[in-house]
Amino acid sequence: RTTAVILAGGTGQRVGLSIPKQLLKIAGKAVIEHTLTTFEKADSIDDIIVLMAPGYVPDVEKIVAKAGYRKVKKIIEGGSTRNETTERAISALGEGLAEGEDVNVLFHDAVRPLLSQRVIDDCVTALERFQAVDVAIPSADTIIVTRTHGEDGEFITEIPDRSRLRRGQTPQAFKLSTIRRAYEVAAGDPNFQATDDCSVVLKYLPDVPIHVVAGDEYNMKVTQPVDVFIADKLFQLASTAAPEQNGEEAYRELLTGKTVVVFGG
Ligand code: CTP
Repeated sequence: RTTAVILAGGTGQRVGLSIPKQLLKIAGKAVIEHTLTTFEKADSIDDIIVLMAPGYVPDVEKIVAKAGYRKVKKIIEGGSTRNETTERAISALGEGLAEGEDVNVLFHDAVRPLLSQRVIDDCVTALERFQAVDVAIPSADTIIVTRTHGEDGEFITEIPDRSRLRRGQTPQAFKLSTIRRAYEVAAGDPNFQATDDCSVVLKYLPDVPIHVVAGDEYNMKVTQPVDVFIADKLFQLASTAAPEQNGEEAYRELLTGKTVVVFGG
């Protein structure tokens, strides 16, 4: 079985609105509703659980009831960091499993509402061979590593070869037993700190290879206020695509002038 875990425990400080950004309406629907619809539609996903920002569980319950999603099995509160939210999901997933039973789990940021079915399917297929899977895209920007020297500010210490650099997205997919073991080992580290789940496996289970699946430029994370505008335009574009078209084709048509989208309209 494969369960999608929707990580929605954050409050969206950088977008800076009075509600968490996953509840913000883009193209007529809450961000998290777009995300849930994508997983509800995915043939390779059996169940969904949602970890929501404290105080906002009823908002998700309402969205789920109204949309009639049948795969959503649990809606619970997230933790105070993203990793704590993941740990809560791991405990929730363990309940009801028989001794020795393992399942596939895909952790996805609620605030990446433009995820494609192709990426979901590639993750689930990769779990047939690997215990840990990440999703990433090449970096168009040069990435520099810096160090801060007091009041003089930041200085470059390294410029890694761009051809080997990738930008990590989500989903991050695992065998439940593997990600659970990684967090168990991490619990013994008083300096534990991470912002995603693959880095927990990389650090605490160094023998487990983490396979990388090609992500998608559309699979953006709504992080800054400008991203709300960009995501809105991308949904507008998706709505002009024929059902059999993927976003990439619709985008190419836009660039070649076959489709006209009025920006700012
Ligand atoms: N997340 C979570 N639990 C937390 C913090 C974050 O489940 N305690 C989730 C967010 O809801 C989001 C994803 O992790 O779907 C990516 O995190 P980020 O973009 O950093 O979201 P926020 O923490 O909400 O944003 P900010 O850092 O601006 O407050």
